[in-house]
Amino acid sequence: MCGIVGYTGKREASGILVEGLAKLEYRGYDSAGIAVIDNNKINVSKVKGRLANLEAQLSESPIQGVVGIGHTRWATHGAPSVTNSHPHTNENGTIAVVHNGIIENYLELREWLKEKGYNFVSETDTEVVPHLVDYFYNGNLLEAAMKAVEKLEGSYALGIVNVNEPDKIVAVRKDSPLIVGLKDGENFIASDIPAVLNETRQVYLLEDNQFVVLTASSVDIYSADGQKIEKEVYHVTWNADAAEKGGYDHFMLKEIHEQPKVIKDTMTSRIMLGEEIKLDKITLTKEQIDNIDKVYIVACGTAYHAGIVGKYVIEKLARIPVEVDIASEFRYRDPIINEKTLMIVVSQSGETADTLAALRLGKSKNARVIAVTNVVGSTVSREADDILYTWAGPEIAVASTKAYTTQLIAMYIIALFLAKNKETVSDSQIEEIKEAMIGLPSLVEDALNHKDNIKKFAKEFAKETDMFFLGRGLDYAVAMEGSLKLKEISYIHSEAYAAGELKHGPIALIEDGTVVIALATQEDLFDKMVSNIKEVKTRGAHVAALALEGNQTIEKTVDAVLYLPKVMPLLAPVVSVVPLQLLSYYMSIEKGCDVDKPRNLAKSVTVE
Ligand code: AGP
Repeated sequence: MCGIVGYTGKREASGILVEGLAKLEYRGYDSAGIAVIDNNKINVSKVKGRLANLEAQLSESPIQGVVGIGHTRWATHGAPSVTNSHPHTNENGTIAVVHNGIIENYLELREWLKEKGYNFVSETDTEVVPHLVDYFYNGNLLEAAMKAVEKLEGSYALGIVNVNEPDKIVAVRKDSPLIVGLKDGENFIASDIPAVLNETRQVYLLEDNQFVVLTASSVDIYSADGQKIEKEVYHVTWNADAAEKGGYDHFMLKEIHEQPKVIKDTMTSRIMLGEEIKLDKITLTKEQIDNIDKVYIVACGTAYHAGIVGKYVIEKLARIPVEVDIASEFRYRDPIINEKTLMIVVSQSGETADTLAALRLGKSKNARVIAVTNVVGSTVSREADDILYTWAGPEIAVASTKAYTTQLIAMYIIALFLAKNKETVSDSQIEEIKEAMIGLPSLVEDALNHKDNIKKFAKEFAKETDMFFLGRGLDYAVAMEGSLKLKEISYIHSEAYAAGELKHGPIALIEDGTVVIALATQEDLFDKMVSNIKEVKTRGAHVAALALEGNQTIEKTVDAVLYLPKVMPLLAPVVSVVPLQLLSYYMSIEKGCDVDKPRNLAKSVTVE
């Protein structure tokens, strides 16, 4: 996820662009840049690191001009660097482009363009765009942009300038947000409303496949087939703070709602029906995979909980023994590691000290290490042998939500990749799982629609001091994550327990009114789970269950049930965690806690 801006008007563009980018840093901040047209030349200023570095560079070497585009990056393809930062240009520097999204077919487009004599300088997917626009340009930037975009697959919000039409910005969106800011004698484009709020509250909200041509005095919108479109002006009533949260009250709620999109993004160009699983940064060969006799998944907190799901799915599909370890325990228990060991370290930030230490321990004992991380160029990504990036975009809230569900997607992808190479699952079974994965974003969308129900539960449970989360199999793994969410943002003590284990002691804690959240999505364990629920019910527990649509029988056993859309049981964690995230969120609100910045916690624990 990145942020793009554009300005065309009568004032110097660079300061306006940087100001707009500053309001989009929550969308990405590992590098930044602007391109401004001046005297028939495009001047580009780009930096690695935060926007402040760009401001410093511009104060040293300012660039003039009243038309320009800008970008703040969250790297997906190509580590953070000046070369990989946007704007990207064609070879003679007459065209500049900024992009937010993922171009799925960029590799084949690079080859196609190289055959036409184009040369590339960056590792990014984006760089194909200025060369495509160059290839199709014959005096009309809008037409060239339309032809270039026809070649693209994937998601994009693009801002494009060309010295041959120096007063103009052409922009287009598909599956990435883009708005137009309207002001007298000057106009703006941006990924999101916060970037223009200091300038105007009059905006056009562009829809997919709509193009816009901006000059200082005009804004023309076109459909993909070149038809002019009239649009309603939207008057923004939000304040700046709310706008950064996309109108949500907290970043956590916004990020919970981003899950359908980022789950889809993380599968993009990796999970496609009828095609091999493509992992461009995992180079494990079939022989190496056949040589693996043990997998360790090592992580902390929420990432550890994703690893537990990883254990279930890798063992089930690839039939390789998997141990999941909390990093701070793993590194001190002298684990048995050798060249037959595969380590998967999971870390949203890629900087967690214990996880990094575990990675280094594994490397020192010749393990092969795959890093699953959300930050391109993070320390774990630089020290691992292989990388599977989650494409969740920046996660601002301390409590992990979209990072967790995209880590689950990464676990499924790795499990399928290993199973395919070990031939432990048939091609048809793999296709069936891939098809079900592709359906996950809409199922998560459905799960998000239970908000009102969950708010009621939250009001009812907010006064509790202790809660249990019970589950079996994959439901137990999700129960752990649900319990952690509740603890860390509502400060209510809770614990997750394997439902079949409760009677070996902890059931002594159940008394009249004890609140139990019971997960019952695993159909092969459903009856067992119902009997475990009866055990706690007879001891006075108040039970709210999560079950899949169609399992009405559970209603006779519990006090309340929230039905989730039918999902392949193996993939259920991606959907069943959503109501638990929402429950914790609304309980935290009920208790007046600081949802995005809970007490005592840091977003990335870079100390032991
Ligand atoms: C989860 O909500 C917490 N923020 C925390 O447990 C987190 O998952 C843990 O610190 C690991 O962080 P990482 O994924 O960046 O390594």
